[in-house]
Amino acid sequence: MKDMFSLKGKVAIVTGGNGGIGLGIARGFASVGGDIVIAARNAAKSAKAAEAIRKDFGVKVLEVEVDVRQEKQIQGMVKKVLDAFGRIDVLVNNAGINIRKFTQDLLITEYDEVLEVNLRSAYLTSKYVYPAMKKVGGGKIINIGSMTSIFGGGKLIAYGTSKGGIVAMTRAMAVGWGTDNIQVNAILPGWIDTELTQRARVELEGLNEKVLARTPMGRWGKPEDLAGTAVYLATAASDFITGVALPVDGGYAVSI
Ligand SMILES: NC(=O)c1ccc[n+]([C@@H]2O[C@H](COP(=O)([O-])OP(=O)(O)OC[C@H]3O[C@@H](n4cnc5c(N)ncnc54)[C@H](OP(=O)(O)O)[C@@H]3O)[C@@H](O)[C@H]2O)c1
Repeated sequence: MKDMFSLKGKVAIVTGGNGGIGLGIARGFASVGGDIVIAARNAAKSAKAAEAIRKDFGVKVLEVEVDVRQEKQIQGMVKKVLDAFGRIDVLVNNAGINIRKFTQDLLITEYDEVLEVNLRSAYLTSKYVYPAMKKVGGGKIINIGSMTSIFGGGKLIAYGTSKGGIVAMTRAMAVGWGTDNIQVNAILPGWIDTELTQRARVELEGLNEKVLARTPMGRWGKPEDLAGTAVYLATAASDFITGVALPVDGGYAVSI
């Protein structure tokens, strides 16, 4: 039987892999032997994250400075990865932002920015890694959704739209690329303690108490809580699973 949970000899790109959930996932991949590409804008933050991964796991790590809103930069990033490693096996579309405003207050520029970072980028990055995955006989794409892929919120017009779209996009790619042996799945994180949600705690009064009350496990998730599920969806263990949206949420989605 093949080594079901190994990424040895494989190359995994994580957009937004220099912090928060992306870094938790990148470290998970490195722990099972994968070489890692950290694709984000803040070069200093990426260099720090890459150095820690190299030191802790002994794998190769490439940092690529990329704004995922820019098609040309995504194409350039894919080229750099292929020049460095010669292959791409796994892509995690994780880069994300939120701008919390009611529909009537949200500017079109703000709406576009959130959709471009959270949704359009997943389409572009997947599209440009596809030829490389096809060349090596298959691949794994993991799109990061959210509880807002399922539930609504008044100030989530842009963010919720992007995260609902991520699930539809996941299904479309899963169906389109099924016979290419590319499995495309989504992870829907619950409330995870990161820079993104530290800001939310300031912007949304009482958020901490609400999260603790509604999450059956009674705590915020940590970035490393996403690692196991991401490893599962990135390795041979999940070879016949495609198009699913898997909550990793301490039970939030089944609680009232
Ligand atoms: N935390 C949660 O509770 C939670 C729950 C559900 C879903 N999520 C989702 O999980 C993902 C990660 O969020 P997080 O909580 O880990 O947030 P975070 O700590 O703020 O990390 C966001 C990451 O995205 C990158 N990024 C943002 N804009 C980018 C751009 N234009 N181009 C390239 N990279 C960009 C950032 O790197 P640079 O700034 O260096 O570019 C950073 O690495 C997001 O998709 C988010 O929506 C989070």
